[in-house]
This record gives sequence, structure tokens and C-alpha cells, in this order.
Amino acid sequence: MSIQRRTVLATTLVAAAYGLPSLARAQKKIVLGFSQVGAESGWRTANTDSIKSAAKDAGIELKFADAQQKQENQIKAIRSFIAQKVDVIAFSPVVETGWDPVLQEAKAAKIPVILTDRSVDSKDKSLYVTFMGSDFIEEGRKAGRWLENFEKGKPGPINIVELQGTVGSAPAIDRKKGFEEIIGSDNRMKIIRSQTGDFTRAKGKEVMEAFLKSDAKNINVLYAHNDDMALGAIQAIEEAGLKPGTDITIISIDGTKGAFEAMIAGKQNVVIECNPLLGPQLMQATKDLVAGKSLPKRIETVESIYPQEVAAAEFPKRKY
Ligand code: AHR
Repeated sequence: MSIQRRTVLATTLVAAAYGLPSLARAQKKIVLGFSQVGAESGWRTANTDSIKSAAKDAGIELKFADAQQKQENQIKAIRSFIAQKVDVIAFSPVVETGWDPVLQEAKAAKIPVILTDRSVDSKDKSLYVTFMGSDFIEEGRKAGRWLENFEKGKPGPINIVELQGTVGSAPAIDRKKGFEEIIGSDNRMKIIRSQTGDFTRAKGKEVMEAFLKSDAKNINVLYAHNDDMALGAIQAIEEAGLKPGTDITIISIDGTKGAFEAMIAGKQNVVIECNPLLGPQLMQATKDLVAGKSLPKRIETVESIYPQEVAAAEFPKRKY
């Protein structure tokens, strides 16, 4: 018998004799159930990749379920994680409301829940341990402040069209709120059209086409709640014979490589960063919970603003 095997056997026997968890139990892999929103955007793909690779690096068994942007699929996935008795459940809620019953089930089963990226609108904060992700209201404010600065000293009116994210989702609600909070006090600025593009490139293009059909000559600014919708809209603007980034100022949120490429090509003016690389933080939090440590109620991500002027220098550093 090798020295290694003898040591393992001896340690197991000692552990058993003292009523300690057996070596096999102590070495049991942590199981994390994760319900993802879907695959609607470049941001989301980067978020999924980050979670999958961080789980692998951390030696955590990941049960991953893609909800295809449907709340009922997320509820089903969470119920299945409860039935499988996973150690920790994490999810990025597609919309803000309607989670209390399933979260109460997780609580009753004593399975801690971590919210990632998007939060829930629930009065009972004990239904989840922590929320890690961006401050979406602040992202909206950053977009508004950038526009205020960009338009400083220029005469009005400044007509804005807005492509909102998924109806009822935290980023759509908060990014709208933060942006309006800033531009609301500037009477040159007006949101003339605002509609959801569901965070996808195809819908962003479709809705922008409709905006252009009715208002092409009046649109000065596009504020898109994510890069994918902005990229779809840029296509629509070009097809309408206008120059995105010049005829229409383009602002979006995320900071994907696609938005940087558009800025380098002069087709987009600024991107507000929303960091999707939450995997390592999530795995650390999962390990901490299993080890019995307590976590802060809010774990925030640090983010920047990238205007067109810095895009070429920043591009090689982009990880998503
Ligand atoms: O919740 C984060 C948002 O969801 C991202 O901004 C968007 O691209 C994604 O689909």
C-alpha cells in the first residue's frame, strides 16, 4: 500500500473514531444550482462563461439552467435545485417581482440563495443572503451625466429615443429611472419615444426602424439600455441613410467588444460599463456560505465609463 493511501485510510479511521465527518464527506464537492436569465446578449454570454469557468476553477459542481428569458422556467429550475438538495442556489432574476413563494420554499429547505446581476423586489430581505451585481440606477445616471456634459452649451431641443430592456427587469426599470433623474432638470432634453427592445439586437433594430419611420429628422440621441440593442439600432440608422455617432448620438450600457468596435468606427459615442464577470465572486461567496461565514447583504461591482476617444486604447484590454 502506498504511503498516500495509508495516510488517507488512517485519517478516515481517526475521523470515524471521533465522530468527525469522514474524509469522503469532508471532500464532497460543493453543489451550486444556477438559473441564468437566457442568452439574449453578448453581456449574458460573457456572464455565463465567467460562471462556468469560475466553477471549474473553484472545484464546485455547477448545475446550470438556462431560462430563455422566462420567469416560469426559472421558478421550475429553482424548485428542481431544491429537490436535488444542492448546497447553494444562485440566480439572476429575469424580472423583479413574483419570487416570494419559491424563495420561501428554498428558505424552508434551508438552502441559501444568492442573487447575481439582477435583484428582486421583495419586502422580505431574509429570502436571500446577498445580492452581487451592478448599481443599475447609477448606470442610468452616468449615461445622463455624460449626455449633459456632451451637450453643454448647445441649444435645444435635444430629442432622445430610448430602447428599454426587458419589461419588468431590474436593469430596465433602474436604468430608465437613473437617466431620467439626471436629464429631467434640463428642459432642452426630452425623451420623445421609449419602447422595449428586450435586450436583443434583433428587437433593438426593429424598434429603431419604427422610431426612424415616424421621427427620423427629429431624433438627436439614442439611449439604449444595452449594447446589443444599440448595435441593432446602429444598423437600422445606417440603413435609413443616416450616420450613427454623428447624426444621432449613441449611448449604451454594458461595454462589450461590439460596442468598442462601434466606437472605434465612429458609430457610437459612449458606453457605460456593466461588468458581467461575476463568476469568481460568486464561487467565493458560495464557498464562504458553505463554510458558515456570513456575507454582506450587497456586493457591488466596480465599473467605468468609456467615451469614443479612449475606445481604441481600451479595446485590447476588453475581456468580453
Ligand atoms: O442584467 C444585465 C443586463 O442583462 C445587461 O445589460 C444586458 O445586456 C443583459 O441582457
